[in-house]
Amino acid sequence: MKLSVIGCGYLGAVHAAAMAELGHEVVGIDVDPNKVATLAAGEAPFFEPGLPEILASGIASGRLSFSTDMADVVGAKVHFVAVGTPQRKGENAADLTYVDAAIDSLIPYLSDGDLVAGKSTVPVGTAARLAEKVAAGSGAHLAWNPEFLREGFAVEDTISPDRLVYGLPGGDAFEVAKSALDEVYEVALSRDTPLVVTDYATAELVKVSANAFLATKISFINAMAEIAETTGADVTQLADAIGFDARIGRRFLNAGVGFGGGCLPKDIRAFTARAEELGRGESVAFLKEVDSINLRRRQKVVDLVVESFDGQIFGKKVAVLGLAFKPDSDDIRDSPALDVAARLKGLGAEVIATDPEAIANAKRTHPQLDFTTDIDEALTGADAVVVVTEWKVFRELDPARVAGLVARPYVIDGRNCLVPSDWRDAGWTYQGLGRP
Ligand SMILES: NC(=O)c1ccc[n+]([C@@H]2O[C@H](COP(=O)([O-])OP(=O)(O)OC[C@H]3O[C@@H](n4cnc5c(N)ncnc54)[C@H](O)[C@@H]3O)[C@@H](O)[C@H]2O)c1
Repeated sequence: MKLSVIGCGYLGAVHAAAMAELGHEVVGIDVDPNKVATLAAGEAPFFEPGLPEILASGIASGRLSFSTDMADVVGAKVHFVAVGTPQRKGENAADLTYVDAAIDSLIPYLSDGDLVAGKSTVPVGTAARLAEKVAAGSGAHLAWNPEFLREGFAVEDTISPDRLVYGLPGGDAFEVAKSALDEVYEVALSRDTPLVVTDYATAELVKVSANAFLATKISFINAMAEIAETTGADVTQLADAIGFDARIGRRFLNAGVGFGGGCLPKDIRAFTARAEELGRGESVAFLKEVDSINLRRRQKVVDLVVESFDGQIFGKKVAVLGLAFKPDSDDIRDSPALDVAARLKGLGAEVIATDPEAIANAKRTHPQLDFTTDIDEALTGADAVVVVTEWKVFRELDPARVAGLVARPYVIDGRNCLVPSDWRDAGWTYQGLGRP
């Protein structure tokens, strides 16, 4: 099947390459000429495990191409819209200008019976508005097909999703849209991937409510961490114990420095803003508390570092292990790790940060920080070590060996990802979050 993907960022580039891997013929369109040139050369413009391989094989097969020219979508039957929907500056609401611009520039190239399939995360009501736009300017139809991929597992999640959601139009367009998406996702559907066929509003809400739920789960355990900190309890044992209840489950119950990235924080804020617009602000007012708990955890890590120096942090060398918002990604959007590094620097610490993949991105946004790709160099002479992204290379550090590098063996485990007894036995003062 011939497909186009408009917007080739973390979502779109993976979607385009994965669809080509499944046998479709795909053109990816982006307004960023550098990104397009990189992708067209078969290289990944960002770190995502498995992406370089499927990009290279897609380009080599001739089924995958990239362009800045929207005219190249002509001939495709389904057009996925995967452009960004960031938080508006100074507001909580989502900025939909990229989605509108993408649809406006796509409309002149649509043929009768084509399907525009929105993948971006949008406030409820957006698809209905865009469907009118598409219908007024073309003979194409619109569906909303939210994306649930996880960065770090994006290729696997796109090729083998845990569910598919189609938000479809009514009337005659319903069957046209459904059969087009069924053809796109034929491989996943043949493996009995659960499919929810619904209307636009439900499809849009499925995505934002899934992210709201995940954010709430993380902030719930982080709230318990705050209580644990004042009572001497251990939140990791608490999470294990409550997680044995199948109704609760252990996943997404890791207390730490909190969530970040290009989705959860802005999605819960946009959801709050949209609910307020709809006169239902009270229904999701709790998400403001979810956001506050999350942001407090960043300050908590900073406070622990400062306290470890009895308030005298100026000039102290702090090694920050992690910059990406999560491991196996180079994404630093709203990253708690980078935020902690910047706050420590702002307090006068001599911060040296390291990350296996995110240094180039962090350098662009935070040139005031010092970076090294060499973990040992970051640790050498450090007065405190802060682990803020749970990369495997950090989890597997040998505490006895690295104790010999630092000036003072003091580690703050902002992800509760180290084994405290191993570090204490090696002579370190270990401090986790929500644990004694
Ligand atoms: N990243 C994720 O893990 C993820 C997961 C699920 C859903 N989403 C949602 O997917 C959407 C995209 O997210 P992302 O992380 O890929 O963002 P991103 O910023 O990495 O990518 C967006 C891309 O769209 C391009 N673009 C902007 N305007 C354009 C236009 N008019 N025409 C063509 N291209 C244009 C940009 O140049 C950029 O490359 C967002 O709504 C996000 O919430 C993201």
